[in-house]
Amino acid sequence: MCIAVKLGLFAVSVMPEASRVVDSRLRRNDGHKATTIEAAITEAAAALASAGFDEPRRRARRLVAAALGLSASEVFAYPERRVDEGGAARIGDFLRRILAHEPLSRVLGTREFWGLDFRLSSDTLDPRPETETVVEAVLARLPERDRPYRLLDLGTGNGCLLLALLSERPAATGTGVDCTFGAATAARANAVALGLAARSWFAVGDWAAAISGRFDAVVANPPYIATGTIASLPPEVRDFDPRRALDGGADGLAAYRTIVADLPRLIAPDGLFATEIGDGQGTAVAAILAAHGLAIDAFADDLAGIRRCIVARPAGTSTVKKCLE
Ligand SMILES: C[S@@+](CC[C@H](N)C(=O)[O-])C[C@H]1O[C@@H](n2cnc3c(N)ncnc32)[C@H](O)[C@@H]1O
Repeated sequence: MCIAVKLGLFAVSVMPEASRVVDSRLRRNDGHKATTIEAAITEAAAALASAGFDEPRRRARRLVAAALGLSASEVFAYPERRVDEGGAARIGDFLRRILAHEPLSRVLGTREFWGLDFRLSSDTLDPRPETETVVEAVLARLPERDRPYRLLDLGTGNGCLLLALLSERPAATGTGVDCTFGAATAARANAVALGLAARSWFAVGDWAAAISGRFDAVVANPPYIATGTIASLPPEVRDFDPRRALDGGADGLAAYRTIVADLPRLIAPDGLFATEIGDGQGTAVAAILAAHGLAIDAFADDLAGIRRCIVARPAGTSTVKKCLE
């Protein structure tokens, strides 16, 4: 969830007049020279630059490519290609939304995670690349590709964690739980689109309150932003990710306390719990785990070098002992 670094902090206000100028130029259909891809990129970049966005040309290129349904290399290769009226209207619409700080993934309604395409909805977090750290950590500890592992994903959102794991372990099955019907529905739709619906179930619930049984891996990426800091998040996050996907209570740790209390009855004897954590939360979350009889198996850093994931197991299991020796 640490989007600030990835998206950049745009210390700007939206400049609607910038998008209106570009929009009207792009829509021009008065017999004069038609707009080309290159001209559209230049105009969009100028609007983004004047609104204070960093790397305006790179952003403009992505925006134009996305609006026209082209790849980045096609946009590079055919700068002189004409943009028709529909394409110009889409570019104008996308630009207006980007200038209002809507992330491009939200504009497009999809996000790639673990090499898979996930649909987004207003009920789901926009999955972040650093959450792949959790996927990596779990796969490394569930090494048998064809074993029927049982997985549980708490706070599944659009299902990205569970479905990424199921895509790599073809005999595994899993349950995803979210507190909103919209998220559970979105996750289910993603499971269908990815061909994983037969091995996944999605439920609406309050963390694991209604879940019984034992799982080889319980995973979670709970909301972990302290309530008081949400107002200072970048607008791309604060205004577009659902509040319940961000708000971790007064100290950011409320969800961990609830989830971890249920783990002793949910984790199989040689099973594990893997969770994403916020920057600097490692010690506090480890203490919550220890209080419920779970021992740290490993910490994992994301690509930015931030401690992003904790893996824990029931204390005293053979795997933990091996790890500590
Ligand atoms: C940070 S988002 C993670 C979404 C997804 N797993 C991901 O990694 O992108 C946290 C998710 O927890 C869900 N959530 C919040 N409170 C919950 C609760 N009490 N029970 C179940 N899910 C909850 C939110 O709706 C949200 O989808």
